[in-house]
Amino acid sequence: SDRRPLVSGNWKMHLTHLEAIQVVQKLSYALDRGPQGEVEVSVHPAFTALRSVQTVLDADEIPVALGAQDVHWEDKGAWTGEVSPTMLAKLNVRYVIVGHSERRQHLGETDEWVNRKLRATLRAGMTPICCVGETAAQRDAGETRDHVVGQLHAALEGVDAAAVAGVVVAYEPVWAIGTGRTATPEDAQAVCAALRAAVGERWGADAAAGVRIQYGGSVNEANAADLLGQADVDGALVGGASLDPVAFAAVVAAA
Ligand code: G3H
Repeated sequence: SDRRPLVSGNWKMHLTHLEAIQVVQKLSYALDRGPQGEVEVSVHPAFTALRSVQTVLDADEIPVALGAQDVHWEDKGAWTGEVSPTMLAKLNVRYVIVGHSERRQHLGETDEWVNRKLRATLRAGMTPICCVGETAAQRDAGETRDHVVGQLHAALEGVDAAAVAGVVVAYEPVWAIGTGRTATPEDAQAVCAALRAAVGERWGADAAAGVRIQYGGSVNEANAADLLGQADVDGALVGGASLDPVAFAAVVAAA
């Protein structure tokens, strides 16, 4: 396809700003030695490390995009503890993860918040990485497709087709996150294809052809090539393995 693969490292609540600087410098070195090709790469540090990482990426002209792990939907106001889309955009943040399952499960994130955050990210000129995924119980009950398509429809409510074409969706089965268990390449492909078909039904063929769909959940250097070789898998959202620059660079090389 014409879609440029995107491999994203979600550092979650790891790495102080000093540690983050070291990891991004090592990553730059590791990427230089491998065939990065047409693959796009982003890293998503904690808010406290964004400025430091941005400075290193800019100073050394490292071909890695800066990403955030969350955002608020308002641009400013009385929202103690929150970070706005403009604040991120001013730091050259290009990608913003919205609706990660850890936030949905443990921090009260609702479909409605995810939709507001996604639209606010687009308004600020950044690209959302919208996470969807089923639990083990939902998979066992045969509800995977309906659940992830429902999450997708809710997240993209009110977004026009041209914008949907530029969005990134991350399919992350909840049971595969941080567990060492991945979906089989065939299962990952089937769900990513169903998500793309759902985009096509509601937003049209161009949106379906443009939207990039990542797989996430225990991606590492050993399984990346099989998962990323699937026709409707356009990259990966990597947690644990992204903290190791050599392993993450190997995932990028496999994309
Ligand atoms: O955002 C990343 C995912 O939650 C995957 O995490 O690679 O540690 O399983 P993981």
